[in-house]
Amino acid sequence: MLRLLGLFFFLASTYATQATPRAIQVQSRSAPSVTRRRALKPVTVPLDDYFLGTDLQWIGNISVGTPPQTMLVVFDTGSSTLEVASTQCAEACSNQIQFDPTQSSTFAEGNFTGVLVFDTGVGVVPVIGNNTQMTLHNATDTVSIGGLTIESTELFLIINQTEPFFADPFSGIMGMDAQADGVFGALIDQGLPSLFGFFLTPQAEGNAELTIGGIDDTKFDGPLMFASLPAPGEQVDWSLISPQVFVNGQTTSLLNATREVIFDSGTSNVLFPTDLTEAIYALISPDIVPHASENGTYGIACDLIPTLPAEIAIQFTAQDGSAFNLTIPSIELSVGPFEGDPETCQTLINAFDGLNLLGASVLKHYYSVWDVGGQRMGFAAV
Ligand SMILES: *[C@@H]1O[C@H](CO)[C@@H](O)[C@H](O)[C@H]1NC(C)=O
Ligand SMILES: *[C@@H]1O[C@H](CO)[C@@H](O)[C@H](O)[C@H]1NC(C)=O
Ligand SMILES: *[C@@H]1O[C@H](CO)[C@@H](O)[C@H](O)[C@H]1NC(C)=O
Ligand SMILES: *[C@@H]1O[C@H](CO)[C@@H](O)[C@H](O)[C@H]1NC(C)=O
Ligand SMILES: *[C@@H]1O[C@H](CO)[C@@H](O)[C@H](O)[C@H]1NC(C)=O
Ligand SMILES: *[C@@H]1O[C@H](CO)[C@@H](O)[C@H](O)[C@H]1NC(C)=O
Ligand SMILES: *[C@@H]1O[C@H](CO)[C@@H](O)[C@H](O)[C@H]1NC(C)=O
Ligand SMILES: *[C@@H]1O[C@H](CO)[C@@H](O)[C@H](O)[C@H]1NC(C)=O
Repeated sequence: MLRLLGLFFFLASTYATQATPRAIQVQSRSAPSVTRRRALKPVTVPLDDYFLGTDLQWIGNISVGTPPQTMLVVFDTGSSTLEVASTQCAEACSNQIQFDPTQSSTFAEGNFTGVLVFDTGVGVVPVIGNNTQMTLHNATDTVSIGGLTIESTELFLIINQTEPFFADPFSGIMGMDAQADGVFGALIDQGLPSLFGFFLTPQAEGNAELTIGGIDDTKFDGPLMFASLPAPGEQVDWSLISPQVFVNGQTTSLLNATREVIFDSGTSNVLFPTDLTEAIYALISPDIVPHASENGTYGIACDLIPTLPAEIAIQFTAQDGSAFNLTIPSIELSVGPFEGDPETCQTLINAFDGLNLLGASVLKHYYSVWDVGGQRMGFAAV
C-alpha cells in the first residue's frame, strides 16, 4: 500500500490542565553538575528511511534515561519539543517502543499535562480538525544523541495519542525549531555549534544522516546557497521568502507573488493554499482534480502520471541578492494510490489554506543546512 508517513507540524500552543500526582516512583534529580561552557564536536546520526512506496520520512535514534533507553524519533524542524511514547500510553502506543520512567534513575516527573495539536500528521493524508494530537506529561531526564549527552533536560512523555499516530514505527518527535527551543538548544548551551545539516536520501541510496553541530561537506559538491530567515531572532518556524514559483518553466500572476514558505523536515508532502495548489496543478494537467475521499487531496489516474512533466521550481533570494531555485522534480508528483481507489494516485500538494509548507519531497533533493546562530538556511544540490 502506498500511503506515506511523515508530517509533524506544531499548530496550537500546549494548554495546561491540573495533573493529579501519579503513582510512579520518582527519583530525586541528580545534583546539577557545574555547567562549563566547553566546545562540543559535531556528531552525525544515521537515519533510516521509513519507506512506504515513496521516500518521504526519515528517523533516527536518541536515548533517554539512565541507563539509556533507545528511542527512534523524527527530527522535526516543524516543532519545538521532545516527545517520546511512554509506558503510561499503553494501548494507544502499543506499536511503539515505550520509554519506561520507572527504569531511569535520573527521571524527574513534572506536574504539567497538555495537548499538542499537529497541523500535519501521519502520512500524506490531511489533518482534519484536531484529529492528530498527543496528550503529554512533562518531565526531565538525561537525553543523548550520537554520543552527546544533556542531563536534566525537558521532555514530554506521550501518555495518549490519536489514531493517526498508531501505526508509527518510531517512538517520538524531536523538535528542532529555528530558535533551538528544545534539546538542541541545551546542546548549544553546552558549547555545540548552533547549526545542523540534513542529508535525506532515497532508500535505494541509503546513508541518510543528520549532522548536529556542523555540516557534512562530503555529501555535496556544489556551493551552499544561503538565504536569511525573514525575521531573524524572532521566528520559531524555519521559513524563507519566495518571490515566485515556476511550473515546467512557466509562471502566472498568481505564482509570481511573494510568499513565506516554511521548511519542515517532519512533513512528507507539500502544503499550499487552495488557489496556489490549483494554479500549479492547472499547469501540469487538467486531469488532476480534488479527490473526494479526503478534503485537501488531489489525484489523477495513476497510468497518466509517467507522461506528465511536473517540475516545480520555488525561487528564493540568496544572501548575496542572487536568485536560486529549489526544484521538485517530476518524479515526486505521485505519492501513491489512494486507499480504496488504487487506480487513482494522490499528487504531492495538499491544499491547506493559510500555509505554504515544503517537506521531504523538496528536502531530499538538496543537502540542507539549518543555521540557528546565523538565522539562515543553506542548500546544495546532491
Ligand atoms: C482543537 O484544539 C484546540 C486546542 O488546541 C481547542 O481550542 C479547540 O476547541 C479544538 N477544536 C476542536 C474542534 O476540538
Ligand atoms: C536504532 O537502534 C536500534 C536498536 O539499537 C537499531 O536496531 C536500529 O538499527 C537503530 N536505527 C537507526 C536508524 O540507527
Ligand atoms: C513541568 O511544567 C511545569 C509548568 O510549566 C513546570 O513548572 C515544571 O518545572 C515542569 N517540570 C519538569 C520536571 O520539567
Ligand atoms: C509544578 O512544579 C513547580 C516546581 O517544579 C512548582 O513551582 C509549581 O507550583 C507546581 N505546580 C503545580 C500546579 O503543582
Ligand atoms: C485516549 O484518547 C482517546 C481519544 O483520542 C480517548 O478515547 C481515550 O479514552 C484516551 N485514553 C486514555 C487512557 O486516556
Ligand atoms: C528558476 O527556474 C525557472 C524555471 O525553470 C527558470 O526560468 C529560472 O531561470 C530559474 N532561476 C535560476 C536562478 O536558476
Ligand atoms: C513577476 O512579477 C514582477 C513584478 O512583480 C515582474 O517584474 C516580472 O517580470 C514577473 N516575472 C515573470 C516571469 O512573469
Ligand atoms: C475542505 O472542506 C471545507 C468545508 O467542509 C471547505 O470550506 C474547504 O475549502 C475544503 N478545502 C480545504 C483545503 O480545506
